[in-house]
Amino acid sequence: FVIGIDIGTSGCKCIALNRDGQILGSALKEYPLYQPKAGWTEQNPEDWWCAAAEGCRDIMETMQDAECAGVSFSGQMHGMVALDANHRPVRPSILWNDQRTQKQCDEITELAGGLKSLLDYTNNRMLTGYTGGKILWMKEEEPENYARTKVIINPKDYIRYKLTGVICTEVSDASGYGLFNVERREWAWELIEKIGIERGLFPSCVESTEQTGAVTEEAARECGIPAGTKVYGGGGDAVISTTGMGLVQPGKVGVTLGTSGVVAMGLPSYMPNPDGKLQLFCNNKPGTWHAMGVTLAAAGSYQWFRDALGSHELARQEAEGIDAYRLLDEEAKAVAPGSEGLIYLPYLTGERCPLNDPNAKGGFIGVTSLHRKGHFARAVLEGVGFSLRQVYELIMSVNSGTPTEIIVSGGGAKSPLWRQILADIFQLPVHTVYGSAEGGAFGAALVAGTGCGLWDSMEEAMELARPDSEILPRAEYKELYGELFLKYTKLYGSLKWFFD
Ligand code: XUL
Repeated sequence: FVIGIDIGTSGCKCIALNRDGQILGSALKEYPLYQPKAGWTEQNPEDWWCAAAEGCRDIMETMQDAECAGVSFSGQMHGMVALDANHRPVRPSILWNDQRTQKQCDEITELAGGLKSLLDYTNNRMLTGYTGGKILWMKEEEPENYARTKVIINPKDYIRYKLTGVICTEVSDASGYGLFNVERREWAWELIEKIGIERGLFPSCVESTEQTGAVTEEAARECGIPAGTKVYGGGGDAVISTTGMGLVQPGKVGVTLGTSGVVAMGLPSYMPNPDGKLQLFCNNKPGTWHAMGVTLAAAGSYQWFRDALGSHELARQEAEGIDAYRLLDEEAKAVAPGSEGLIYLPYLTGERCPLNDPNAKGGFIGVTSLHRKGHFARAVLEGVGFSLRQVYELIMSVNSGTPTEIIVSGGGAKSPLWRQILADIFQLPVHTVYGSAEGGAFGAALVAGTGCGLWDSMEEAMELARPDSEILPRAEYKELYGELFLKYTKLYGSLKWFFD
């Protein structure tokens, strides 16, 4: 069997997968997220490692004498993990949904010679979420921390370091620095020189299926995986989740409902990114690419709703082991599609695609005295659906094919109600595939298994993502959702003056 470890934003998921593609064990360990200021998000890399080690120990106990053939990772992308000469973090990691770096992103674009030349270097805009702006932020705002920093990696690469002692990254996460030549699959050194960041801060970079060391004796004692087990490159979660969904050809569109929401497509060959509106990254299979757009608060919106506006009763029921999300789903399901005119804007931490506005704020519009909690819960699910449809339309504007189905994954995909809402909003069948609820961890296990030869090729591995549920769109809601979607797309423009 192989192990896939996903360092998510709300927690770490570890799974064990065998050669037949069966998930034999799974463990989820949560950790805190810190918000020192509005718009700032940070986590402690040691929390990730403790969670990963504990999760792996649980898995290894269930697997008893079976042999672990390899390990790989998925991880929240873009997080800046700055390490000193002893490979200790110099500060907490600044995460993908942190919005503090707009000034630095503008500076990088200017130093590159404007947007067009930045796109020539990287095929991507410099977005506030990306690692590149964070590095410059630390240089300008925390020069002492910057001076102590010897190398900068992403969250999952910290777990690799703890497991193997090896510091490196792979092409899909490297793409998310915004300083990577995605076409040539190497660092954009000329751009890096222009913005004045030392070359030495960038780790070496491999393809996702390459081996990157083996578990050390010390790590084996902490995580229970035997010393010497081979460890493979892995990938950024937004990319490797689509590997886990078996997305190879542009005909299928993947939607991930994690803390963030990702609409993505696999690209068999390199494609330019007009105006840089999409994120165009290297894919996990060597020689392939990946196009996506991200809405920042997807299942994160539902989580916020549960925590901030769900009642104490929900918290109590959850403490008794009843899943609060399913209870909220029941209330939302009792409300008719369209939430009686209530619209939710999911811009809780600003918005990335297609608004690219760190100042955007969330909201409920159209509240009347008739609305109850179920309306608000349903409006959250629908609002995230509208936001994903906006991203989808952008992807379709650069892609020639017409997709015939949507494949969903991530924690939010467990909700049949949310899947039905997506089917109705997109007017396309919505499928889940085996392993899709595990999000990036399943993709990570496929990459580990491809790397160590459990399967002959990535295609063979991806066939294990077999369809396991289908929800069909209901034509009677096409018009209603079409109208609400149009209203949704106009709201941001009307409210921008208020957000700024
Ligand atoms: C991708 C992105 C998010 C995070 C969430 O660009 O920012 O999907 O990777 O974990």
